Amino acid sequence: MGKKLFLSALASLALFVASASAEEDLKTNMYKLNNHMIQMQAAFIQGNKADALKAVSALQEESHALFDHESNIKKMLPENKRFKSHIAVTSAASIQQDLETIKESMDDTRRDTAQNAYLNIQRACMRCHNLVRDW
Ligand code: HEC
Repeated sequence: MGKKLFLSALASLALFVASASAEEDLKTNMYKLNNHMIQMQAAFIQGNKADALKAVSALQEESHALFDHESNIKKMLPENKRFKSHIAVTSAASIQQDLETIKESMDDTRRDTAQNAYLNIQRACMRCHNLVRDW
């Protein structure tokens, strides 16, 4: 193998490894979102306000890291879906908004508002996944 060919093979291997690990990172972070959602659901079912708020804070932290920058969101999408990235961006923004809504409506009279916001978050997760996976 010529030296040039070898180097370019090495470079594409490095690129492949880098993108595979970016994919792994994304999945790891997504599983964190999922865990926080499961905790929040359990807290709502049990009527445990403190645990629900804990899950909201954890989810807010993760979602800031993942969704704050539009360029980050676009990078998550397969090439052939990037022209529809506005769907991903609005899903991500609505998650952030609904987390705020939950925090603001956790008194005893607006539980419905908080719980609806939780359900809206579920919908936003699925909206982005449907875009990614063509369902
Ligand atoms: C902006 C788009 C977007 C949003 C919003 C989003 N995800 Fe994801 N999610 C992805 C992408 C991209 C992947 C990785 C590609 C794949 O798994 O097909 C992924 C993967 C996942 C996975 C791993 C699935 C697997 O196949 O292993 C889980 C779990 C997950 N997301 C949970 C969530 C939860 C929970 C939410 C909402 C709180 C959420 N995601 C919101 C884009 C998004």
